Amino acid sequence: MDFGTISRQRLPELLRAMPKAELHIHIEGSLEPELIFALARKNGVALAWPSVEALRAAYAFTDLQSFLDIYYAGASVLLHESDFEAMAMAYFCRVAADHVVHAEIFFDPQTHTARGVAMGTVIRGLARACERAKRELGVTSALILCFLRHLSEEEAIATLHDALSYREHFIGVGLDSSERGHPPEKFTRVFAEAGKLGLHRVAHAGEEGPPAYIEQALELLHVERIDHGVRCVESPALVKRLAAEGIALTVCPLSNLKLRVFDKLADHNLAELLHAGLKATVNSDDPAYFGGYVNDNFVAIFEALPQLGAAEAYALARNSFDASFVDAAAKRSMTAQLDAAFARFR
Ligand code: ADE
Ligand code: ZN
Repeated sequence: MDFGTISRQRLPELLRAMPKAELHIHIEGSLEPELIFALARKNGVALAWPSVEALRAAYAFTDLQSFLDIYYAGASVLLHESDFEAMAMAYFCRVAADHVVHAEIFFDPQTHTARGVAMGTVIRGLARACERAKRELGVTSALILCFLRHLSEEEAIATLHDALSYREHFIGVGLDSSERGHPPEKFTRVFAEAGKLGLHRVAHAGEEGPPAYIEQALELLHVERIDHGVRCVESPALVKRLAAEGIALTVCPLSNLKLRVFDKLADHNLAELLHAGLKATVNSDDPAYFGGYVNDNFVAIFEALPQLGAAEAYALARNSFDASFVDAAAKRSMTAQLDAAFARFR
């Protein structure tokens, strides 16, 4: 495809219009302050902030942990199946407008079961939203159950077993929460069991943690994608391996900015990752907390990095389909939609 005819001026419009898959979105991170307060009121849950404005003002993070403390407090308003459904529907409606055609969505069951919410309440509510998104918006989706890495492997195993009653509603497992001090190796057995059950495997690694955590995720957890992974560039051998094995990185530029992984977007290494032959994708991570959904991430990072143009826009969207867990026919169909969108811009 000839990308040379697409001017830089039209890039934001192209980025917004192109179909894309989102592969790194924590559904609890899509909970907007207005919905947090509405659910708190409805469910009689006390919050530490007096108003929506005060909560938003608290979104001044210094690192991953400072964000997670507020993120878990925000999730405390979710009690009923309908709450989980409402949260996920709000996300789907928002990203359908961003031309997200497929989303693979993380959820953190331990954040809810620890408060006495049943696993079935969480999964059934989210699954109901996934069905509605397909029917009402034409957006396909799948759920990925994440283990909280600051908790023990025994708790992760118990969570997996608890979730198996709802096996048909999720396609894989992931690993999130506080990265530093909680290496992937801590979860070797639970990921092995998930693999035996035919579940896909992904893990956050190399967001704040060192390249060795990415290597452990590959070697010991046998993950198919790395979430974030931006610190891989500190190991040229690892970059080579990720490129050779076609392991996708689900990169989240605005998250990296807000959590101070990079001081400014102009310092972000997305262009470097792509040009090293890595299968990078662009995602929102926790859009309600980091100041933008997936299109905001695309537009902001392309504005900050002059090395990114129409060819990279195509590669990023194409990678999002290739790295997704849908079948080959669905990948072909989404790629055909992408080609048609680009044809309209040439
Ligand atoms: N949970 C939600 N967002 C996360 C992130 N960016 N890293 C680790 N755990 C998370
Ligand atoms: Zn994440």
